[in-house]
Amino acid sequence: MTNKDQYKVEQEPFYQQQKNEVALYEAAYRNRLPVMVKGPTGCGKSRFVEYMAWKLGKPLITVACNEDMTASDLVGRYLLEANGTRWLDGPLTTAARIGAICYLDEIVEARQDTTVVIHPLTDHRRTLPLDKKGELIHAHPDFQLVISYNPGYQTLMKDLKQSTKQRFTAFDFDYPDAALEAQIVAKETGMDEAVAAKLVKIGGVARSLK
Ligand SMILES: Nc1ncnc2c1ncn2[C@@H]1O[C@H](COP(=O)(O)OP(=O)(O)OP(=O)(O)O)[C@@H](O)[C@H]1O
Ligand SMILES: [Mg+2]
Repeated sequence: MTNKDQYKVEQEPFYQQQKNEVALYEAAYRNRLPVMVKGPTGCGKSRFVEYMAWKLGKPLITVACNEDMTASDLVGRYLLEANGTRWLDGPLTTAARIGAICYLDEIVEARQDTTVVIHPLTDHRRTLPLDKKGELIHAHPDFQLVISYNPGYQTLMKDLKQSTKQRFTAFDFDYPDAALEAQIVAKETGMDEAVAAKLVKIGGVARSLK
């Protein structure tokens, strides 16, 4: 059996809200809508998801997607052992079974034949077929799928299929305004706000360098 507690977010992560994204996410979660968090690197996507998992008191399973990832890495596989084979659930399957929030980070990195395995989990079916095992999982009522997506990285070759994108409620993130960002930097680092404000100014200029 999977120990659900290991995926709990124990400590409240520091998250400074930018607009009303916390209430919006709560509404999305209430309806178990799959969520896509969009935005440039470092704008707070992962922190937000971690914070929401903590706030909702749900386990969080994060998968860092990459181009070598196969559907089996998400869903699971048979392992060869001395006495035969043993099925091992992948992180997506575990999340669907235990009712976790499954966060697929940088989903665009994964190949399209891998991303399609999430489709039946993201519509009214809320199921995950384990073809190799001959099992159909009905997702736990608490299960929710969240993906992150950095539109800046997309190229003609690498983008999500329309059929994947349209399944998600999008949360559009961007860098906070300078005053809010200075507060975040000060809180995260413990430095005083005047120094943080200078750093934020430098950061803003650096980001606009191409
Ligand atoms: N709104 C926020 N509240 C608190 N901390 C924040 C916030 N936004 C950003 N941060 C800080 O910035 C860091 C980077 O944020 P995070 O890892 O969430 O970015 P990201 O959008 O997931 O980036 P990437 O696309 O590179 O994964 C966090 O570790 C945190 O210190
Ligand atoms: Mg991230």
